[in-house]
Amino acid sequence: MYVCPRPHHAVHCFLRPRSRIYGGDMATTISTALKTLGNSDLQLTSIGFGAWAIGGGNWEFAWGPQDDDESVGAIQRALELGVNWIDTAAIYGLGHSEEVVAKALKGWSGARPLVFTKCSMRWHEHRSIYRSMKAASLREELEGSLRRLGLEQIDLYQVHWPNPETEIEEGWEALAKFKEEGKIRWIGVSNFNVEQMKRAQKIAPITSLQPPYSMLRRAIEAEILPFAQQNGIGVINYSPMVSGLLTGKMTAERIAVLPADDWRRRSVEFNEPRLSRNMRLVDLLREIGRGHGVEPGVVAVAWTLRKPAVTAAIVGGRSARQVEGLVPALSFRLSQDEYGQINAFLAENGA
Ligand SMILES: NC(=O)c1ccc[n+]([C@@H]2O[C@H](COP(=O)([O-])OP(=O)(O)OC[C@H]3O[C@@H](n4cnc5c(N)ncnc54)[C@H](OP(=O)(O)O)[C@@H]3O)[C@@H](O)[C@H]2O)c1
Repeated sequence: MYVCPRPHHAVHCFLRPRSRIYGGDMATTISTALKTLGNSDLQLTSIGFGAWAIGGGNWEFAWGPQDDDESVGAIQRALELGVNWIDTAAIYGLGHSEEVVAKALKGWSGARPLVFTKCSMRWHEHRSIYRSMKAASLREELEGSLRRLGLEQIDLYQVHWPNPETEIEEGWEALAKFKEEGKIRWIGVSNFNVEQMKRAQKIAPITSLQPPYSMLRRAIEAEILPFAQQNGIGVINYSPMVSGLLTGKMTAERIAVLPADDWRRRSVEFNEPRLSRNMRLVDLLREIGRGHGVEPGVVAVAWTLRKPAVTAAIVGGRSARQVEGLVPALSFRLSQDEYGQINAFLAENGA
């Protein structure tokens, strides 16, 4: 066991030294903190690779077109640089994201990362989406995900959304059964509130919750994070950089020319009146990041990791280059002073 020597780490951490030297300007040794996810035996690096955007275009929640080779390169670069888990979902690209993850794993010769996916959002042949937590539907979904991912067992299987709400009990019971059968190792939920988690907990323990959490989406701070912490439920938060908004590369000019099927065009945070304030927030993150040689997005991720209830953050990347900019988030931590500066900005600017 090592104790982290870096002064900017807020907590002592277990280090996983990486001895490989990476090419180009990434010639560095990256050390990563591992944390246990809830009641499981899964040991997670501080960030995982989020596979939503790499699902590609032409569906309701698409991010515009995406080249699969770029996506495979992004995933493999993340693994090479020390990320040890991937989060995907059957619905991302209507099955395509899972296929791309499989392709990346097939061409990867290192240790297999942990693979997490999600269920309950399905699609018709003509690509419209519907939701179901009926046991038979979930079983079909599980078989589909195992086949697309090319795996015999999924490390964490999550209910994507608690809809239809009346089916929570039936759905959760089904997941507990799949776990007993050995097709999945652990079961988690996503986008559940406290009441919904209590209903599921009566049937079987919840290993993890996957909620939105970032500087601009803080609703879980009041009740959900304390509940997760009190009940030993791991938390892997999504969209820590507000789906690319806080990376420093998103501008009003770029938003104006986003592809027609990029859902972010419709997002309130990517449009005025909030956009100008959000860009000023990015300026602050850039300034803080500059002092450490990290991108604004890394600062945004680190802000979410300050909460002890958060186990790790899910971070999306669409190319190897983007991933290289993000991996410092494996070890970068904000000082109390920097955390305070960001929180002051948020309080003063109504975020
Ligand atoms: N359970 C749920 O309901 C749910 C909902 C949302 C997300 N998630 C999960 O959480 C993951 C992460 O959330 P997210 O994908 O919404 O957002 P995010 O991690 O906040 O942002 C990711 C996006 O930022 C941009 N980016 C990444 N690295 C960059 C860099 N170095 N420089 C510039 N831009 C960069 C990329 O988009 P562009 O290049 O296109 O800007 C990328 O797709 C998802 O992939 C998914 O696995 C789950």
